[in-house]
Amino acid sequence: MSVKKDRENWGSRLGIIMAVAGSAVGLGNFLRFPVQAANNGGGAFMIPYLVSLLLLGIPLMWIEWTAGRFGGGFGHGTAPGIFNSMWEKNRFIKYFGVIGIFGPIVIFIYYAYIESWLLAYSFFSLTGKLSSLEGQAGMQSFLSAYQGLVSNEHFSGIGTAYLFFLITFVVNTWVIYKGISGGIEKLCKWAMPVLLVFGVILAVRVLTLGTPDPAKPGWNLANGLGFLWNPDFSALKNSKVWLAAAGQVFFTLSVGIGVILTYASYLKKHNDVALSGLTSASTNEFAEVILGGSIVIPAAFVFFGPEQIVNVAQSGAFNLGFVTMPLIFQKIAWGSVFAFMWFMLLFLAGITSSISLAQPAISFLEDEFNVTKKEAVMIFATVTFVLCQASVFLLGHGVVDELDFWGGTFCLVLFATIETILFSWVFGIDRAWDEMHSGADIRIPKLYKYVIKYVTPLFLVVLLVFWLLQQGIPTVLMSGVPDANRYFILMTRLVLFGMVALLAVLVNIAWRHRAQKKTT
Ligand code: PFF
Repeated sequence: MSVKKDRENWGSRLGIIMAVAGSAVGLGNFLRFPVQAANNGGGAFMIPYLVSLLLLGIPLMWIEWTAGRFGGGFGHGTAPGIFNSMWEKNRFIKYFGVIGIFGPIVIFIYYAYIESWLLAYSFFSLTGKLSSLEGQAGMQSFLSAYQGLVSNEHFSGIGTAYLFFLITFVVNTWVIYKGISGGIEKLCKWAMPVLLVFGVILAVRVLTLGTPDPAKPGWNLANGLGFLWNPDFSALKNSKVWLAAAGQVFFTLSVGIGVILTYASYLKKHNDVALSGLTSASTNEFAEVILGGSIVIPAAFVFFGPEQIVNVAQSGAFNLGFVTMPLIFQKIAWGSVFAFMWFMLLFLAGITSSISLAQPAISFLEDEFNVTKKEAVMIFATVTFVLCQASVFLLGHGVVDELDFWGGTFCLVLFATIETILFSWVFGIDRAWDEMHSGADIRIPKLYKYVIKYVTPLFLVVLLVFWLLQQGIPTVLMSGVPDANRYFILMTRLVLFGMVALLAVLVNIAWRHRAQKKTT
């Protein structure tokens, strides 16, 4: 172990805002959001979505920026240490912080693989491969063969997908290795503007589609937007819709999982968090509601019509992205260029998110075990590379869905509840409020002091209970899981449990070392 060095810092304010926005803007904005909105009441979905954004998303953004910067001041970049600095007297709170390293690793394991499909599809757009495939069936069989689920004239085996996975994995590892300002910040500072420009170009293209087929006057853009945005107010009575909206807000903002804590821990003591947190959240919402809402669903409606669109929306985010969109690009002029922009946009959105998922584990090793960046990255890359094999080879056995359930849903709600209560009630809202405003460039409306103290925690607890009853318990009991997948799901859970246990042991070791050092 080497001698403890100073922690890294962000190079500029724009840099960290772009990095946090980069983490937030991801596949969730362009694929998950439109599908959730279309399937959960259309325009009415936006009511619970907005309520969740104002009462959960934005408060959590501020909480994580503030708590992260606070913990960073004590040399901690991850939840175990940050929680411990906020509640020094409690011996157990650091173990709850394990979720803030575990959750991001779990998401990383499947997210990085899906990201690699996007790189591959950007390439297939350029080579003309995608434009040569015929119809829905052709596009679908290409995707399934690429994923190694079937073998046909396109691919026999997982080789090509594996190659793109390797490239994606190496690029991720390289960026993380280059560090906070030299890697993450540098990448996000160019990738974010590029992806936003691509998003605007695609949205404008879709919004100027009009009525592409004059023989079908009803298949027009206005109706396409209407399909997504016309409100079905009866959906508001359904608690599932509220859960879906809140879940989307967490996922899209990257809050409730620990990554923003880690990013914020590299701020300096008096760097602003209030305005920066709000700016990164707003950038994400622009990319989600304006761009994400204007691309896939309206475009699919215009080309597939009112009857098909329901199936398309229900077939899920992957089908929409990898099957429906390339079919649409076949029908418009310069389709290959637009297809490239679409997949490149998603790839850039993906990589700026996956590097943020990797950082908590790296910071944990560096901060708590005093290992060098190089060693930390090597350990992380080796472990996650092995774990990623499950996503690659067991995709057809429900493993990715299982990882998404634990990492992308369960951990978010649980971790958010713990950190909010810790922040407002244990650390104390008065101290927290002062901390939030130290170095701040805006004053947060006073109302939010009460929201963060009462409304956010209460909302979270209610959400947690409803979520457990409606989705958590049935999923844990594997209801609806085909028999053939049960073994794989069980094994996945075993491995995940092992990971939590190992991380808890590591926390224990780190703190014991620290205590020993203090006494010697
Ligand atoms: N916010 C990302 C998206 O919308 O795709 C996903 C994500 C990244 C979730 C990082 C959580 C996270 F920590």
